[in-house]
Amino acid sequence: MTLVKELKKRRTFGIISHPDAGKTTLTEKLLLFGGAIQEAGAVKSNKIKKTATSDFMEIEKQRGISVATSVMGFEYKGKNINILDTPGHQDFAEDTYRTLTAVDSVIVVVDVAKGVEAQTEKLVQVCRMRDTPIIVFINKLDREGKDAFDLIDELESKLNLTLSPLSWPVGMGIDFQGVYNKWENNLLLYKEVSKQKVTDSININLDDDSLSQHIGEKAAKQLREEIELIQEVYPTFNRADYLSGKVCPVFFGSALNNFGVKELLDCFAEIAPHPQPKKAEERLVQPEEDKFSGFVFKIHANMDPNHRNRIAFVKVVSGKFQRNTNYMHVRMGKNLKFSSPTTFMASKKSLVEDAFPGDIIGLPDSGNFRIGDTLTEGEKLNFKGIPSFSPEHFRFINNADPMKTKQLFKGIDQLMDEGVAQLFTLESNGRKIIGTVGALQYEVIQYRLEHEYGAKCTYEPFPAYKACWIESKDDQQLEEFKRLKNRYLARDKFDQLVFLADSQFSLQMSQEKFDKITFHLKSEF
Ligand code: G4P
Repeated sequence: MTLVKELKKRRTFGIISHPDAGKTTLTEKLLLFGGAIQEAGAVKSNKIKKTATSDFMEIEKQRGISVATSVMGFEYKGKNINILDTPGHQDFAEDTYRTLTAVDSVIVVVDVAKGVEAQTEKLVQVCRMRDTPIIVFINKLDREGKDAFDLIDELESKLNLTLSPLSWPVGMGIDFQGVYNKWENNLLLYKEVSKQKVTDSININLDDDSLSQHIGEKAAKQLREEIELIQEVYPTFNRADYLSGKVCPVFFGSALNNFGVKELLDCFAEIAPHPQPKKAEERLVQPEEDKFSGFVFKIHANMDPNHRNRIAFVKVVSGKFQRNTNYMHVRMGKNLKFSSPTTFMASKKSLVEDAFPGDIIGLPDSGNFRIGDTLTEGEKLNFKGIPSFSPEHFRFINNADPMKTKQLFKGIDQLMDEGVAQLFTLESNGRKIIGTVGALQYEVIQYRLEHEYGAKCTYEPFPAYKACWIESKDDQQLEEFKRLKNRYLARDKFDQLVFLADSQFSLQMSQEKFDKITFHLKSEF
């Protein structure tokens, strides 16, 4: 099969949601439909349980398990579908942001009763930065929830999206009877038979007289009115607008009850994009180009402390990747050959001979890779779009065992390459500050430094509000800023200048006073 045919079959996407909205349940149901797993419960073991928030050992263990399910691939209707797993735990949000750089589209799961939650907002924002096509799945329709119109309004205003409902609920809460699927023009009935909820799909047009036989006169009238209203108020779905990120189709269902999931998957398989061109600093790289290129979006440490092996996850951007072939590691400027690259089919890991755009391959790594690294057939390309975001927590890191200084620095260096946290070095005195998204990472770092590198560390508070990457069009103003704010200036691992603002107020004041300086909350701009 030609490269173009192969890549056109690929659908690589991520499922995102606020914890508890039903991401794991939906993933599992999609895998069941795809035949990648045989029973429910297989994905659950991968989930970082909310009860384990303070038990980081448990989380590390679960992260170990999750390496096998980082990518879940299956075939459906002639398409090779790859779901990239994103950690649900918000302390690992940075991992999720990075994984989103490797997807071609996303499904956002929203709880019908809770609507838009904090994490939904953040993640959708990241998708919008890149115009990633989004499908919204409103979940838990079997429960009492918000009115569908209100919910759509809320999604549009809080997430800044334009929505186009492709299915619509019939009734709500105890009156809930099912959904009308506009995409396929059929009615999905949600029935209870012998105390079991079952789904019954009926091909029916809204104008058919028999509609009221299925859902009753009143509900049929209401459904017709509501669908008419939807058609007036929301844009008619068109694929081009979805693909450019302008309009997001919406589906309603219940993942737990397997209700509306197949409809979602059918539509997804039909409309979701195949691998897209990707921007490198040098040029736009097209997936159908002959020459292989790819980038590392995730690095996973192995659990065995005696072997510091890691797996670097590479998304193939263009061309065909082949085993035992020399590829250039662009940052290091050296050639590397991979004898045991792996792919992932649900929980099975297997050796791969070749891979195509959209595929994710796991490369065993002994410390050569850093997140964002590019592999090519020789061309110097650096893929953009893997920014670091401002951490939420900041602490000084101190060496607690002077005999192990080398180990400590090596450990910190490698953990930062993996993207566990961010390291800043203060301009004024060279002290090291670790910035993280969640407080949990400090425990993880301390534990891993000790067990994997034999080094010990302690922390001290560093009261910072946000890290802002500095860009200035005016050298004089920049010099003045540097002089005044010297105590709060640091360098990140790429030697970029960062302002560690101590409060929202101080950031605001600086923005007002230094109007030629831009304060970015992410490292790429
Ligand atoms: P997450 O990955 O987004 O964090 O959510 P997850 O799928 O784990 O779902 C969170 C909870 O919501 C689970 O219940 C799950 O069973 C439930 N759930 C998911 N989809 C539906 C749905 O369509 N309807 C209803 N009523 N519930 C749903 P839990 O009690 O927290 O976990 P468990 O004991 O069921 O595993």
